[in-house]
Amino acid sequence: MPIWTASFITPATADPTPEGPAAYLRKEFTVDRKPAVATLRVTAVGLIEPHLNGGVVGDEVLTPGWTSYRHRLVVSSHEVTDSIRLGRNVLGAIVGEGWALGRLGWEGTRHHYSDRAAGWLQLELEYPDGTTELVVSDDTFRSSTGGMTTDSIYDGEEFDARLEPSGWDAPGFDDSDWAGVAPLDWPKESLVEPIAPPIRRIEELPPVDILTTPSGLTVVDFGQIISGWVRLQVSGPSGTTITLRHAEVITGGEPDYETIRTARATDRYTLRGTGLEVWEPRFTFHGFRYVQVEGWPGNLALDAVRAIVVHSDMNRTGWLETSNPLLNQLHANAVWSMRDNFVGVPTDCPQRDERLGWTGDINAFAPTAAFLYDVRGVLGSWLSDLAAEQSEKGFVPWVVPDVLSTPSSPTALWSDVAVSLPWTLYREYGDRQILDAAYPSMTAFIRQVAELLDENGLWSTGFQYGDWLDPDAPANNPAGGKTDRHLVAAAYLCRTTRQMAETAAILGRSDDAAEFRALAERVRTAFLDEYVSSKGRVVNETATAYALAIAFDILDESQRAHAGDRLASIVAAAGYRISTGFAGTPLVTDALTATGHLDAAYLLLLETGCPSFLYPVTMGATTIWERWDSIRPDGSINPSGMTSLNHYALGAVVDWMHRTIGGLTPIEPGYSRMRVAPQPGRGVTSAVLRHTTSHGDVLVDWRIADGEARVFVTIPAGTTAEVELPAHPDAATLEIAAGSHEWNYAVEDSNQGASYSLDSTLSEIAADPNAWRLFTDAFGRHVPGVPLDGNGPEATALTVRTLLDYIPGASEGLKTDLEASLDAATTGVSA
Ligand code: BGC
Repeated sequence: MPIWTASFITPATADPTPEGPAAYLRKEFTVDRKPAVATLRVTAVGLIEPHLNGGVVGDEVLTPGWTSYRHRLVVSSHEVTDSIRLGRNVLGAIVGEGWALGRLGWEGTRHHYSDRAAGWLQLELEYPDGTTELVVSDDTFRSSTGGMTTDSIYDGEEFDARLEPSGWDAPGFDDSDWAGVAPLDWPKESLVEPIAPPIRRIEELPPVDILTTPSGLTVVDFGQIISGWVRLQVSGPSGTTITLRHAEVITGGEPDYETIRTARATDRYTLRGTGLEVWEPRFTFHGFRYVQVEGWPGNLALDAVRAIVVHSDMNRTGWLETSNPLLNQLHANAVWSMRDNFVGVPTDCPQRDERLGWTGDINAFAPTAAFLYDVRGVLGSWLSDLAAEQSEKGFVPWVVPDVLSTPSSPTALWSDVAVSLPWTLYREYGDRQILDAAYPSMTAFIRQVAELLDENGLWSTGFQYGDWLDPDAPANNPAGGKTDRHLVAAAYLCRTTRQMAETAAILGRSDDAAEFRALAERVRTAFLDEYVSSKGRVVNETATAYALAIAFDILDESQRAHAGDRLASIVAAAGYRISTGFAGTPLVTDALTATGHLDAAYLLLLETGCPSFLYPVTMGATTIWERWDSIRPDGSINPSGMTSLNHYALGAVVDWMHRTIGGLTPIEPGYSRMRVAPQPGRGVTSAVLRHTTSHGDVLVDWRIADGEARVFVTIPAGTTAEVELPAHPDAATLEIAAGSHEWNYAVEDSNQGASYSLDSTLSEIAADPNAWRLFTDAFGRHVPGVPLDGNGPEATALTVRTLLDYIPGASEGLKTDLEASLDAATTGVSA
C-alpha cells in the first residue's frame, strides 16, 4: 500500500470553481540521477489528465471515474520511468469538474462532493541504491487556465485552441504570470487503489454516412449508439468554431434531442488556425449515434471525424450467435447497452441528465452482464461504494453513488441489489470472497426489511417501484403497472431471503443461516397465504406475478404446473406482445420454460409487434431501449419525458438466451460443474455460444438441419458437465469430462409449419402469433371493434366456420378474406 503524501491542490482563488475554465497545474523540478523506477500516482476531486514532460501520461480517461468519493477516491498509478529526464522536468495536470462538481441528476444540482476542483499527483522516483524521492502536488505548484474553457459531463466541453499555452507541460515554459495554488481539505482516508479496470478509449468507429437533413443541418451517422465522443481532424482559419451536438436518434429526418432531456451534450472546438488540428474532448462523454456538425470550415469528409467508444476496460467473456438475425441483433444491442452503461459506474443510461448508478437496473441485468464481460472489478468497486454509503446512511441508496436529494427507502429489485448482486457474482465466478466481503451489507439490508414486515410476514407497506415500466402502466406513472407492487416486493423477498440463507450457510455462519432460513420460510408462507390459491392461481393474474411465483420457486410442487399453464395462457392472450416491466421481464421466459411452455417462451421472444423484445430491433435499434415503445410505431419518440434509447435493464432476457438457446448454465458456482442443454424452438436451428469461465473456455456449438443434428461441446480442465442433446430422440442425460466432444444424430423434423383452414379452431390459430395477426387483421377489416379471444375456454372448440355461422349476415367477402389470411399464415407470409 503506497503512502499518500501529496496534497490536493486547487487554483488559489477565494471563489468556488466556476463552470469552467478547467485548471492547469504545473511544477518544474530537477532530477540529477536516473531513477530505476518512476511511478506517477494521480487522482482528483473532479477529473484529471496528468501530464509529464510535454505529454499526457497513460491511456486512462475520465480519471478517477466516479465512486462514492468521500469514502473511496481511486488513485491511478502509471509507470513513467522512461519519461523522466536528467535535468529539468515538468509535472502537470488539467483538472475539470466531472462528477464531483458538475451537475448530476435530473434535479440539476451541482457540487455534490465539493465546490472546488482539485488535483492530486505523487511522482515516486526510486533510485538503484534503494532511496526514494517524491515530487508531490503541494503549494509549490503554479496554476492557470488554458484552452479548455468549459467542461461538463452532461453538457459537453468547449475548447479554444487559441487559448492553449504552448508548451505549458514541458520544461522551460515561462509560468511567471501563473497564479499559485491553495490546498483543498479532503480526507486522505478516502484514497484507495483501484478495484475496477480504468476507463479507456476502447474502439473507434468511422461514420457510415454524412446527411444533410430536410432543414439543411449536417449530421454524421456513426451507425451505432455508443458512449464516448467525437475526435475531429480539421484545418481552417483561426477562430473558426465547430459545434458538435450529439443525438441518439433522427425523427422526421432531423436529429431529435428529446431523449437527452436537459443535457446539452454539445462540444465546441475553436481552431488555432496553424495547420492540421486534431481534437477530442477529455472531461465529458455522450450517449449518441448522430452528431450534428455546425461551422465546419469547408467540406466535411468522412475521414475527418471518428466516434471514440469509451468505457471501463473490461475483458469480454461471453458470446452467442444464433441462426436468427433478429435475435443476434437483440444480443448485440444488449452488449452495446452494457458497454455504453459501464463508464465506471453501472448506470441506467449514458445520454440524458441522469446517468446514475440505479440499483434496480443493474440488479435486473447483472446475470447477463456477468456472462458477457468480467465485471468483478466494476461491480466489486460499486458494491464497495454501496456498502460504504449504506453503513453511513442506514439505507441502500436507490442510486450508488447516492446524489439524490431525498433518502431512499428499502425496495424490491432496487435496494435488494445488496443481496442479489453479490449472489449473482458468486454464482458466476465461484469466489466465496465476494460473499464474504458483501456479507455485512447483505445482512443489514435483509434484517432491515425483516423489521418492516407486517404481522403476517408480508412486505406490505412503503414505497415500491413494482414492475417498473410495465408497458400497460400509464406513461406518467411507470411504477403503476398491472402487478401489485407489494406482491412484487413479497416475491423478491422470497428470493433474497433464500439467497441470504444460502450465503450464510456457505460462509459457515450457521446461526445466521438458521435465522434466514426461518425468515425465508415465513415470507414464502405469507406470500402463498395472501396471493396464491391452493391450486396455484395467483390472485393478481399478470405475467409478472406468475413469472415471479414460478421463477423464485415460491409455489408448492402441486401448484406449479397450473400456474405455468395460467402464465402461458396470459402470454398467449396478449398475442405474445410483452406485458412485463423491469421486475418480470428477466424471469418470464424462464418461468415458461420451467413449466413446460418452451414454445410460448420462444413465441414471446420472437414476437416483433409493439411492444415486444424484437420490436425495437425491427425499428433499427442498436441498443436496448428504456421503454418497450421508446420509439412508437409511427416513428415518434414516446413523449413521456423519460425515454432513453440506451437502458440495459429490459435486455435481461439475453441471460435466458445464453442458458436456453446457447444452452449453458452453471450447476456449481463458477462453472466447476455445468449443464449443457440447448433447447431449440420456433425455427432457431443453430447457435454458437462461447464463455470464458474462471476455469477456462466453454464452447457449445449446435446445428440442426435436414433431419441431422451436430453438437460440439468443449469444457475446460477442472470441470465436468451434464449434457442433454437438443432434439435427441432418446432425451438422455450424458456425463462429460473436460475436453472436446462431438455428437451427430438424426432428428425428426419438428419445424414443419402448421396449416390453417376454416376448420382450424381459434386457439390453434392463436398459438401462432403470425397466423393470429393475419387472421384478426382480416376479421377487423370487416367487423371492426369486435375483439376475438383466441385463448378463452370456447376457443379450443370454436372453428372459423362455426364463428362465421354466429355472425348475422356474415358476408362472402369476410369468409374469402379470412380464408386468404389463413392460407397466407399456412404458407408463412408475415403479418
Ligand atoms: C431511471 C431508471 C430507474 C428509475 C427508478 C429512472 O429515471 O432511468 O432506469 O431505475 O428511474 O426510479
